[in-house]
Amino acid sequence: MSKLPIAVLISGSGSNLQALIDKMEEGILDVDIRMVLSNRSSAYGLERAKKHAIPTCVLSHKDFESREDFDSEMVRVLKEAGVQAVVMAGFMRIITSVFLNAFSGQIINIHPALLPSFAGAGGQAEAVEHGVQISGCTVHFVNEKMDNGAIIIQAAVPAIPGEDVKILSDRILQVEHRILPQATQWLAEGRLSAEGRFVKLGAANVAKAELTADFPCLINPPLESGF
Ligand code: GRF
Repeated sequence: MSKLPIAVLISGSGSNLQALIDKMEEGILDVDIRMVLSNRSSAYGLERAKKHAIPTCVLSHKDFESREDFDSEMVRVLKEAGVQAVVMAGFMRIITSVFLNAFSGQIINIHPALLPSFAGAGGQAEAVEHGVQISGCTVHFVNEKMDNGAIIIQAAVPAIPGEDVKILSDRILQVEHRILPQATQWLAEGRLSAEGRFVKLGAANVAKAELTADFPCLINPPLESGF
């Protein structure tokens, strides 16, 4: 199968990037990561990319006068690298129509909450403060509003009222590492079509749906083998 040339956008640790790299190297994820782009030079994800000989780029938003100027430069860099689709994996910037139009329908994001609850940064802490019993994460298409685009896949995990936010965040992160590579593979296979808010998942060539997890968790649509 041909590989979809993608960029991964990060701002921090890059554990979701690592999950993508691992699945790629296992031969399960059919993408070619042409570029890892970070808006922070200190992002540990850059080291992860370098270890796997993946090209990196640091663009500090602080060096640009407007969000649009920053986005134009990102577009230029990514297009030059032959990127066709973009995975936002812990990228802490709001993008503008400049970026959206350049990769129309081909940008996805992972968010550590069950959207539309707790959009924005700090979703896990808000969930803990709210006393939710179930939390989780969402992969969605990116639109012009923050954490608002059509939902591709969600995973739910138990939350314990009053627990440390770090513990909940780690529990959520474990399933982020499952659903982001899966959603990215669906994108690579061209199986995702969005009509308004609704995302349809096209049929797999082979029957491969299967639900696997180490603790109670609900993932819908179900993960397919290898994820
Ligand atoms: C993840 O929880 C992601 O959902 C959020 O930021 C965190 C990034 O983690 N947007 P990492 O950089 O992938 O380790």
